[in-house]
Parts: sequence; C-alpha cells; structure tokens
Amino acid sequence: MTEALELGGGERVLEIGTGCGYQTAVLAELAREVFTIELEEVLGVAARERLGRLGYGNVEFWIGDGSGGWPEAAPFDAILAAAAPARIPPRLLDQLARGGRLCMPVGDDVRDQELVVVHKRSDGTLARTSLGGVRFVPFRAKPGS
Ligand SMILES: C[S@@+](CC[C@H](N)C(=O)[O-])C[C@H]1O[C@@H](n2cnc3c(N)ncnc32)[C@H](O)[C@@H]1O
Repeated sequence: MTEALELGGGERVLEIGTGCGYQTAVLAELAREVFTIELEEVLGVAARERLGRLGYGNVEFWIGDGSGGWPEAAPFDAILAAAAPARIPPRLLDQLARGGRLCMPVGDDVRDQELVVVHKRSDGTLARTSLGGVRFVPFRAKPGS
C-alpha cells in the first residue's frame, strides 16, 4: 500500500486508521508530514505517545471518524486507509490533491474486498485501479454518530 502511493519525500499524507502507529511511522519516514486519524481513543492516544517517544515530529494525530477526512489540513498528496468502507468516502477524494494517490480497501462484505488505488490526474479526473482481493477490518462510524 505504501509503494502504491509513490511517495518521493515531500508529500503531506493523510492516514485513516492509526492503529498502533506502525504504518504511521513508515509514512513519516517516507513523506514530509503525516496526518493520522483513529476512531478508537485508546489506540490513538497510545500511538501518539509511542511515536512521540520515538522522536517522530512530523505526525499530527486526531481521534475521530476519518470518513470526513481532515478538511482543515487538506489537500493531501496521498491518502491511505487501513479499514474498508463499502465505497470510497467522497470527501476523501475531494481532499486528494491533483497528481495525488489514494490507496484503501473497499467492500461491504469482509469476504469480498478489493484494494483500490485512485490517481487524481493533473486535470482533476480520477483513474481507479485494483490491486486485488484483500481482507481488512471494516471502516466504522463512531457509535451514536
Ligand atoms: C488494520 S487497523 C490499522 C493498523 C495500522 N495501520 C497499524 O500500523 O497499526 C485499522 C484501524 O482503523 C480504525 N478505524 C476503523 N474505522 C475508522 C474510522 N471511520 N475512522 C478512523 N479510524 C477507523 C480501527 O479502529 C483500527 O485501529
């Protein structure tokens, strides 16, 4: 998934699904700045502390539902999500910069998901390719929202 973003080192990246922060750290090594969102507070807080201890100064953390992206920090040169929604949230595509790439699993059935890469061309049109079948946790909404 990281390779599919084709990072060159100067990008601002949005990640959805911080989890333990491992992928966040990989992205922080390969890009200029990472904005990461985690739905589960206990995970997001632990990841922020962990990456802080490890000296990552180019990561911004947010606890919440990542389906709306992070409008205040958009646009992003790359977007990566590690949880599968039924379809790509349109607001994520809106927040993808021209020339940027989004990579995420998609599918409402855990047994029938595909890993999708969307390239937003310089004219704003979208090119979608599939990297094949995958099995990720579902992209969830915050209870009560
Ligand atoms: C497969 S794990 C990510 C693992 C992560 N890449 C790592 O390196 O540890 C998927 C994460 O997405 C989170 N998640 C699910 N739905 C979400 C949403 N709507 N917004 C933000 N995070 C979400 C889950 O809580 C879970 O921590």
